[in-house]
This record gives sequence, C-alpha cells and structure tokens, in this order.
Amino acid sequence: MKGLSGKVAIVTGAGTGIGQGIAIRLGAEGAQVVIDYVGDPSGATETQRAVEQAGGKAAIVAADVTKMSDVAALVDAAWKAFGAADILVNNAGIEHKAAFWDTPEADYDKVMAVNLRGPFFLTQAFVRRLRDAKRPGRIVNISSVHEDMVFPGFSTYCCSKGGMRMLMRDLAVELGPLGITVNDVAPGAVVTPINKALLNDKPKLDALLGKIPLGRLGTPEDVAAMVAFLASDDAAYVTGSTFVVDGGLMRNYREQ
Ligand code: BGC
Repeated sequence: MKGLSGKVAIVTGAGTGIGQGIAIRLGAEGAQVVIDYVGDPSGATETQRAVEQAGGKAAIVAADVTKMSDVAALVDAAWKAFGAADILVNNAGIEHKAAFWDTPEADYDKVMAVNLRGPFFLTQAFVRRLRDAKRPGRIVNISSVHEDMVFPGFSTYCCSKGGMRMLMRDLAVELGPLGITVNDVAPGAVVTPINKALLNDKPKLDALLGKIPLGRLGTPEDVAAMVAFLASDDAAYVTGSTFVVDGGLMRNYREQ
C-alpha cells in the first residue's frame, strides 16, 4: 500500500480481535503502530511481537477511551514515541445484548462511552495536534453493518454505531480543509472475542452463515486490508464514506 511506510498509526483496542489484525497489517506496511489496550496487557504484547515480526515498530499504551485524561495521554504518547500521529483507527468497541425494555442505564452508558464518546474525544485530541502542527491525517472508524442495519436486542450498539456514522460524515466535511480524511469501515460478522457467544452457539451460527453470500465469517485480516487502503496514499481522495466488509450480509434480505 502506498505511503504507509514511516507513518504513525494509533489503533485502539489493538490487543485483540479486529484491532490486533489492523495493527499487524499496518505494521507490515511499514507504519509505526501505537497499540492501545485496556485491562490485561498480554494481547497487546502479542500484537507488538507480531508487528515487529512483520517488520514494523510498535509501542504499547494502556488507555481507556472513556476517560478524557487517558485519551489525551494516548495521543501524547504517540507523539513522544514516534514524533507524530498521522493515522487514527477508532476500533475499540463493545456490545451488550438486552431487550430494549430491559436495557439497564449502565449498559447504555458503557456502550455509548466506549463506542461513540471515546472515538469523539480521541479524534478531537488527535485532530488538535495535527491542526497545530499543520499536518494532514487519516481517521478510520471501525463501525459495523449495524451503523445502518437493525440488530434487535442490541439497541445500544445500534445507537452507538449509527452515531459513529454521522460523526464520520460530519467530520469529513469539517476536517477536509485540514487535509484530514474520515471514513468508516463496517464489518459484518467477524471471528473475534466480541462474537464469542454466537460462535459457541451452532444453530445460531449456522443460521447466520446461511445469510452470508460468501458462506463464511470474516477475519480480522479481511477488515485490516480495507483499513490499510483507507490509511494509505491510494485513498487520498476518499473521505466521508462507509466501506462495508461483510461477505454480502447486508445485501442479503430474503423472504423465507
Ligand atoms: C456485531 C456482531 C454481529 C455482526 C453481524 C457485528 O457488528 O459485533 O455481534 O454478529 O455485527 O450482525
């Protein structure tokens, strides 16, 4: 991919799942990667090792995107470690299953804090530094097919991803004059820990597979390839759009 070599990329939630795949791919493209994680650092260490094996450089930072001080510290850490932060991948995300009428306030607050408020203020901290340094940049949000498609039982998740889509569209316009592009990548069903319950439930999994025209779940690598493109110079004229990586799931409504 053109132009990724030497760029500095922050990837949130990069100790596991899709974020780990993105960090490794960007590292393999020659980027210097800031691996953000929360909780147990073992996944982040694994990511760092893989980035280095792929020929890239990586630093690990523990930062909870729901905390303003952590968000500021994450951007500062990138500039301190590598002298810049050119690419931000807002990947960290969670979901809670609950019928709408049973959804606890705490679930709503947590899902919105990680999936929407976190990206909002992390992007703000990322952009302020670029604006002050008069440098261009790239923002890629990992949203979901559910930024557009319903997901009954996951209304909080849908709110957060729908919000992420509009944040992306708004910022594409507001940040375009600064030379900063903003896009969403919308994965479908990908094999990651967020899907653990589904992956262990064979009837549900088979039903889902039946709805995916390409006949398999996605992998973190499938998503990472799109992110690498959007972060590269090849995507210099691409902003304000969502790129769906779902094996055709979204387009496969069928009457029984
Ligand atoms: C969710 C998964 C779900 C998939 C497809 C993803 O955004 O995290 O739980 O299986 O969308 O519906």
